[in-house]
Amino acid sequence: MSVMRGATVLLVLSMLTRVCFSATSKTASFGTVKNIRSITKMSKFDLPDRLKGNDKSVWVEYIQLALQYKPLNLGQGFPDYYAPENVTNALAAVAKNDNPLLQQYTRGFGHPRLVNVIAKFYSKLINRDLDPNKEVLVTSGAYEALYATLQGHTNPGDEWIIIEPFFDCYEPMVQTAGGIPRYIALKPKSTSGTVTSGDWVFDRKEMESLFNEKTKGIILNTPHNPIGKVFTLDELQFIANLAKKWNVLVVSDEVYEHIVYEPYKHIRIATLPDMYERTITIGSAGKTFSVTGWKIGWAYGPANLLRNLQVIHQNSVYTCSTPIQEAIAIGFELEMERLQQPECYFRSLAMELLPKRDYMAKFLREVGMIPTIPEGGYFMLANWSALENKVRLNEESDENKDYRFTKWMTKNVGLQGIPPTAFYGPEHKTLAEDYVRYCFIKKDENLKAAADLLKKWASK
Ligand SMILES: Cc1ncc(COP(=O)(O)O)c(C=O)c1O
Repeated sequence: MSVMRGATVLLVLSMLTRVCFSATSKTASFGTVKNIRSITKMSKFDLPDRLKGNDKSVWVEYIQLALQYKPLNLGQGFPDYYAPENVTNALAAVAKNDNPLLQQYTRGFGHPRLVNVIAKFYSKLINRDLDPNKEVLVTSGAYEALYATLQGHTNPGDEWIIIEPFFDCYEPMVQTAGGIPRYIALKPKSTSGTVTSGDWVFDRKEMESLFNEKTKGIILNTPHNPIGKVFTLDELQFIANLAKKWNVLVVSDEVYEHIVYEPYKHIRIATLPDMYERTITIGSAGKTFSVTGWKIGWAYGPANLLRNLQVIHQNSVYTCSTPIQEAIAIGFELEMERLQQPECYFRSLAMELLPKRDYMAKFLREVGMIPTIPEGGYFMLANWSALENKVRLNEESDENKDYRFTKWMTKNVGLQGIPPTAFYGPEHKTLAEDYVRYCFIKKDENLKAAADLLKKWASK
């Protein structure tokens, strides 16, 4: 009986649907279809105010550009060669492991094996015992750690100090959380001869003037993308003293922590006196093990500060991939056993990158650009203004010259870089218009091909 009633209901429903569809198409000329369209156009589906202005991303635009023109791509920051076998073999073994649970959900705030090793590793580095369950959070890349931090710690109207140039997501992450970015630019002390990332400094008076009652925190990135600056102890102390004076947070994005060139040393601001209590430090397995596609990152810091990140994480991502976390944990365990040896990946990566850095600096100089030699990371900023007469900037319509330069180069020279004004707030973009960012964690043959392309173009 109930089966029959069900069948009748279905029949009536399908007839009704058919009637409705035919009615819609027949009455289209009387406006029904138009009405449907105007419903989907209604402002209630527009971007909410807090998202407006945050819908642009240099990555979305430049990845599309690369797909279309197929240039030699020195834009995005990832290696174009094999990741270290330690982690890739570990992942292969995890996929075939006898334990079926390694393919299932794991603990939301971080896979136990991974949080344990992360806590152990950083406990050594920062000389304090981290609780793996309360002071470490595993996230979907450093990106999510930044997101969870800024969402979790921002009330409407809170101000965040952002140092320009900045990894571009800081700005929309602050704004979409209801916060207000306050910018301060690093500026080069000299722009000719040999320029290094250490030459790029912030004005201390200006930095001091940004702190006020509304300040929630400052976002620091060391080693820095895109300049490659490794902040000095003196600079970090200056920032730390202001953070303590105004009782604000420090978000320290240290994803390039292991890529530092001799004689420079990475200093964790969380290790300065009374700073652990107010610092959330962010790391990335993608950058640490050259596996950016694995998208695992972490935040560590005091439990009371991480609590806010946990709330965002558990209500968005909830838990990250188990096998990838297990593989990264194995990678960490292996590297920790040989921390003092030159083969340790945390040491060998910078050694491997040093000749690539020097090679790129040399060929950029040879074509007439002025590179900033980075002390860390794998990006190089170069001033191309001496070559402006070789570029038909008027063929591109973007407001900022570096966008026009990089697009024109992609289309006409076949080499893609990233426009650094994407890493500046609205008021200071002109500071970076004469620059381009290139990435040098690329195969030697591709760096050589880039050099050849540039030389051929510059000699015309
Ligand atoms: C400074 C900085 N922070 C964070 C990230 C994001 O890291 P992940 O790929 O782990 O999300 C990047 C990636 O390029 C970066 O350069």
